[in-house]
Amino acid sequence: MSLLTILCYPDPRLHQVARKVERVDDEIRKLINDMAETMYAAPGVGLAATQVDAPLRIIVIDISESRDQLQAFVNPERVAASGVAEREEGCLSVPGVYEKVRRAERVTVRALDAAGRPFTLEATDLLAVCIQHEMDHLEGKVFVEKLSRLKQSRILARFRKQGRRAVEPGPRRLAL
Ligand code: NI
Repeated sequence: MSLLTILCYPDPRLHQVARKVERVDDEIRKLINDMAETMYAAPGVGLAATQVDAPLRIIVIDISESRDQLQAFVNPERVAASGVAEREEGCLSVPGVYEKVRRAERVTVRALDAAGRPFTLEATDLLAVCIQHEMDHLEGKVFVEKLSRLKQSRILARFRKQGRRAVEPGPRRLAL
């Protein structure tokens, strides 16, 4: 396994729309493993392939305290969503920024696992937040784009001024 470099906002590659994975083969499994290692090392609770400059529809998530409950989603599709919930989020590509974001409270997604088997999952709470945040990455969207224009321009100015990797990740909060 190897650690991958996480792209930092406002890198334009974060706006790539990810391609569908045609076949879950060993190459894809290696990418999933490398993404997991990168997520654990960051540390974060979720990572999308877009964030490591691999524009494929793959996300990894582990919200467990024990950090041993890895969930991989290949070609995730949202099949249902309901409710509204607001929660503070951070992003491994926007280190040090934590803001409240409003999303669906409950989502149902269909995806393939690392073995290429289809599964359907209904998620609430933190897992629902993670899934929606990471699926946004696959569409080329970063969470700060859901904030007010004023907040966005402040964050953008800060990252342009400080440059890549200049901001240390904050305390271990919800970094996705
Ligand atoms: Ni993120």
